[in-house]
Amino acid sequence: MTAIDFDAIPSKRLPALLRQAPKAELHIHLEGSLEPELIFKLAQRNGVALAYPSVAALRAAYAFTDLQSFLDIYYAGASVLLQEQDFFDLASAYFERAAADNVVHAELFFDPQTHTARGVDIGAVIRGLHRACQRAQAELGLSASLILCFLRHLSEEEALATLEAALPWRRHFIGVGLDSSERGHPPEKFARVFARARELGLKLVAHAGEEGPPAYIESALDVLKVQRIDHGVRCVESPQLVERLAAERMPLTVCPLSNVKLRVFKSMALHNLPALLAAGLCATVNSDDPAYFGGYINDNFIAAFDALPQLGAREAYQLLRNSFEASFATAAANAVWIAQLDAAFSAAA
Ligand code: HPA
Ligand code: ZN
Repeated sequence: MTAIDFDAIPSKRLPALLRQAPKAELHIHLEGSLEPELIFKLAQRNGVALAYPSVAALRAAYAFTDLQSFLDIYYAGASVLLQEQDFFDLASAYFERAAADNVVHAELFFDPQTHTARGVDIGAVIRGLHRACQRAQAELGLSASLILCFLRHLSEEEALATLEAALPWRRHFIGVGLDSSERGHPPEKFARVFARARELGLKLVAHAGEEGPPAYIESALDVLKVQRIDHGVRCVESPQLVERLAAERMPLTVCPLSNVKLRVFKSMALHNLPALLAAGLCATVNSDDPAYFGGYINDNFIAAFDALPQLGAREAYQLLRNSFEASFATAAANAVWIAQLDAAFSAAA
């Protein structure tokens, strides 16, 4: 146990402490970090026609009512990504922003099927992203790993083919995930491809319980055998599930601004992050699709702590510490970051 005196940390110090503290980001879609300015730059570089005349017009179209209305625009934005260099530029732009937020470790989702469907070579996608990860480590001291996500609105056969096509670059990604339209596409639809990924020694995660019911969280755990749940906020509808998640210290990668933009919660003041922590869950704070939802990881921390008076220094520490407990980095690396986190909080008390 750490001996940090949380009550001695003045609440006015908290925003700066949240910004400065080392943190891991575990739920970020690289395609969701594609800012409108970069969409226009890449469209011009690649000769891709856009449906919007300006950055401002594109940004004005970011008015979402639910997950699907977001995904339609998100896939359209990704259509400018064609060359290996585009993927490198995309990830490099994210790493600059993340480093400014004191992210020391990031595990990044990418959606190869969004690109291979347009004729892009999966090798170009993975090589471009991997090169950006190497540069992030070398130039920013930011540790980064990739997680390949399957699009759940497509078939399991397509997911299996995507995994096989990615295997020449097996050493460049640490795990697989499951994203896109949740309702009507339960985790068990992907039982075989997750079993195959497990055989390959890949880490396993899945989006579940964002718009889908608690039963999807259960089948992600029991059928897919995931090691983290992405979102998972609807777990509170099943007290037995909450008890299980707490007992197993199963991480939930929560994305507050995303949840409000996609109307999972009507307002930030109604977000259940405090309840998740109070129930003893290993909840973390993440940005999901920062270019679309109004902010990067620190914006998510600040927005949640501004709107939710139940969140104080103790909860800030717990969320940050959880990010390392939940990460797939080595135990030694996590221990170093947790020691830095402890030092930051001790100095503020
Ligand atoms: N949910 C499902 N799929 C996604 C998301 C999300 O929040 N972001 C990008 N793809
Ligand atoms: Zn997501």
